[in-house]
Order: sequence, then C-alpha cells, then structure tokens
Amino acid sequence: MKNIQSYVQEHKDRFLNELIELLKIPSISADSAYKDDVLKTAEAVKNQLEKAGCDSVEICQTKGYPIVFGEKIIDKNLPTVLVYGHYDVQPPDPLNLWNSPPFEPVIKETELHPEGAIFARGACDDKGQMYMHVKAMEFMTSTNQLPCNVKFMIEGEEEVGSESLTDFVKENREKLKNDVILISDTGMIAKDVPSITTGLRGLSYVEVEVTGPNRDLHSGLYGGAVANPINVLTKMIASLHDENNHITIPGFYDKVEELSTEERAEMAKAPFSLENYKKALDINAVYGEAGYSTNERNSIRPTLDVNGIWGGYIGEGAKTVIASKAYAKISMRLVPNQDWKEITQLFKTHFESIAPDGVTVKVNPHHGGQGYVTPIDSVGYQAASKAYADTFGKTPIPQRSGGSIPIVSLFEQELKSKTILMGFGLDSDAIHSPNEHFGVWNYLKGIETIPLFYKYFTELHN
Ligand code: BES
Ligand code: MN
Ligand code: MN
Repeated sequence: MKNIQSYVQEHKDRFLNELIELLKIPSISADSAYKDDVLKTAEAVKNQLEKAGCDSVEICQTKGYPIVFGEKIIDKNLPTVLVYGHYDVQPPDPLNLWNSPPFEPVIKETELHPEGAIFARGACDDKGQMYMHVKAMEFMTSTNQLPCNVKFMIEGEEEVGSESLTDFVKENREKLKNDVILISDTGMIAKDVPSITTGLRGLSYVEVEVTGPNRDLHSGLYGGAVANPINVLTKMIASLHDENNHITIPGFYDKVEELSTEERAEMAKAPFSLENYKKALDINAVYGEAGYSTNERNSIRPTLDVNGIWGGYIGEGAKTVIASKAYAKISMRLVPNQDWKEITQLFKTHFESIAPDGVTVKVNPHHGGQGYVTPIDSVGYQAASKAYADTFGKTPIPQRSGGSIPIVSLFEQELKSKTILMGFGLDSDAIHSPNEHFGVWNYLKGIETIPLFYKYFTELHN
C-alpha cells in the first residue's frame, strides 16, 4: 500500500487530538447519570465516520443506547469487512487512584511507552482502538486505496452486556452481511512480540444474597447463637474452590475442552517471563489451578472470582453488629463449549444447596455470553498475519485471551462469519483500572496495520 507510513507521520498530531476530543466525553454506559454523554459520543462517532469517507452513517435507535452504523459499498462483487467496536467505557472509580482526571486526557511517557501514552478512561478500551479503524478508513478513502466494501457497527453497551446489539444483529442480518468481522478490542503480547487473539473466554456473572435474622443484631447479645450471614457467605464462597484450586460446582468442568499436549506445547512457546509478570503486579508468587501454567490459567481454563463483597458495618470506628444480610458479585470466566446459561444454572443450584440452616440464599443472574475460538488457517487470519508481518517485521503469534467479548460468538451464530481480533493494547495498559492508557506508538501502529489487512483480505478472498 502506498505511503501509509508517511500519511500517518504527516497527520499524527491531528489523529491524537481527535482521539483526545472523543476521550473527553464520559460515555459511561453503566451509570445512567451519564446518559447524555453516551448519546453525545454516538453523535461524535457518526460525524467522524462521515468525515472518514463513509457514504451513509446512521444512528440506529435501540431500547438502550444507539448503534452507529456506517458503510461504504464500492462494488457488490468485492468482499465486505464489518468493523465492530464500542464507544462506551467502564466507570472510572476509584477516582482518587488516578494521577490525572479520567476524562481530561494527557500524554505522558512510561517505561513501556517512551513515545508517550494517552491516559484517559477508554484510551485503550475501546475508543482508542476503535478510532484506529476510523483513521485507517480515512487513509484508504482519501488516497483512493480502499480495496473492498466496509461496514462499521459501533455500539454503546459493550461494557454492560451488549443487550441491544444482540437484538439489532438478529433483526438486521441482511444489513450486516459481510465476509469477515474485524475488531480491535483486545491486546498483544508486547510491542516487539505481535500477536493475534484467537480465543476469548465466555462469562457468567451473578449476584448472591445471604439473609439471616430479620434485623441487624447486637453481636454480643446474639453472637454465637445465630448464623452470621457474612461468616456464612465467606465460608460458602471459600468452598467453591478445593485445595488444588479446582472449582467444586458439580458439572462445572463437564464440557470444558482439554487441549492436547501438542496444543499446550505450542502455547508454551509464546514468550513469557514469570519474573516480570510478578514484578509488574508487585506479587511474590502467582496463584491458581494446579497443573496449569499462568498463561493457561488466564486463557484456556475457566475461573470463578468474587468481584465485590459487602455487608455489615464498614464506616469509621467499630460497631458491634451482626448484619441481617451479606452480598457478593461473582464472575465465572468460561471456555469454549461451556454454555453460560447452563453454568449459571449449575452455580445457582449448587450455591443454594450448600446454604446451611439459619440463612436463606438467593442467586440473581446478571449477564453473560459464550466464549470463542477461531482457527488460524482462515483467510481472515492469514490476511491479518501478513499485515502484521509487514508493519512489525515479524509473523504474529496466535494467542488465546482471557477477556470476553460475548457478542463475537453471536456474530458467528447469526451472521455466519469469522471474527479477526487485531488488538494493539498491552496488558499493562490498565483497562478497567485507574490510569488506563494507550501507547501513542501502538495507536499509530494500528492505523498503519489495518489498511494492509483490507488489502490482503481482498487479495486472498475468492
Ligand atoms: N475489551 C474488553 C475485553 C478484552 C480485553 C478481551 C482485553 C481481551 C483482552 C471488553 O470491553 C470487556 O471489558 N469485556 C468484559 C465483558 C463484558 C460482558 C462486560 C470483560 O471481559 O469483563
Ligand atoms: Mn472493550
Ligand atoms: Mn472493557
């Protein structure tokens, strides 16, 4: 492709400034106080897609937040790439741990990003990565090098479960028809170790509630004589893992696909330093399921984690009290073949069954989704691999990720197309955490690599 690198060099300040403007809008989908900002972000994305050369861009209303859909169809006989991304972001809490306000983007150097990184909520997940596609589109249309048809579908509810998008996909199969889906909403191993994500975990998210006595009690007068919901809840949670850190829910592992020795050996070839991993997290040891490596534990194995737990008195000083209720939020990361609805049911049945007398237990399922794996011999993967080889000077490594983008398995089911996950973030970019950032180098590298994917995909497609 002609002059992509010089185009990026020439326009990089504007590319950064436009992203910074987008990052200033707090599009927090989880918090209804930010509704207007979420809607404003959809408008901003629409405007930028128009400027980047889409022929038609619409804001498609749903029962939740709108989906921005844009397209440029140059020839019905050419293949069509569907780009998916999300313009919503996670809540920035806890605010006091940010070194600069989450919606006032700043560029600062870090050890891993000597060229600078943009610090803001959504910088990497997913405004920055989504916007690489908008700028790649601008390059291709403005230099007359768009080799195929393009559709964009950018949603505003990814961080809260993509409920509206699920209906939208089912109702718009024809409109969304494509030959491959392209997403940048994952990461890569390192700046000098490019990788393409070939798998995502599924998810089941539940909230549990343990109720004991009908009111909070004096912990002296009643302590020892009635079940304390917090004691009970923590004991129940502790029993969900055995001494080998296997999950004890009956049937939980029944459908888990075990990788062959060869597949595991292949995975183990990816460069990984346990020392650096521990150092980056300030931990003196890793922890997890016996018999599996760190990289296996966080990608090909299912997990169960408490995400939040509360109850009783947590204010200043001490209050001697036995709470009437205790709560926890629990996520289970699932692997392909595990059905998230089935796992949710298994959890519910088991958790209710282990409740001791003296308390009642309620399990409230939230959202979830299926995992995903994609083969590396598809045209899409091969095109992505060639694109990275050109811009990184190395063939990328296939890597299964531990994160979830539940809508990807629905795309396969409803649209019958494969998704290629070209992520340019690093694990250390702190997505969902305070001080989220995205390397300037990564951002520009993404913009350079994406047009090559279009080129190779069009060439290889028949
Ligand atoms: N972009 C992430 C998922 C991700 C990040 C996958 C890095 C692989 C590598 C996405 O926005 C996300 O946060 N997904 C949620 C699930 C969703 C249902 C809330 C997740 O993984 O917790
Ligand atoms: Mn994301
Ligand atoms: Mn996210």
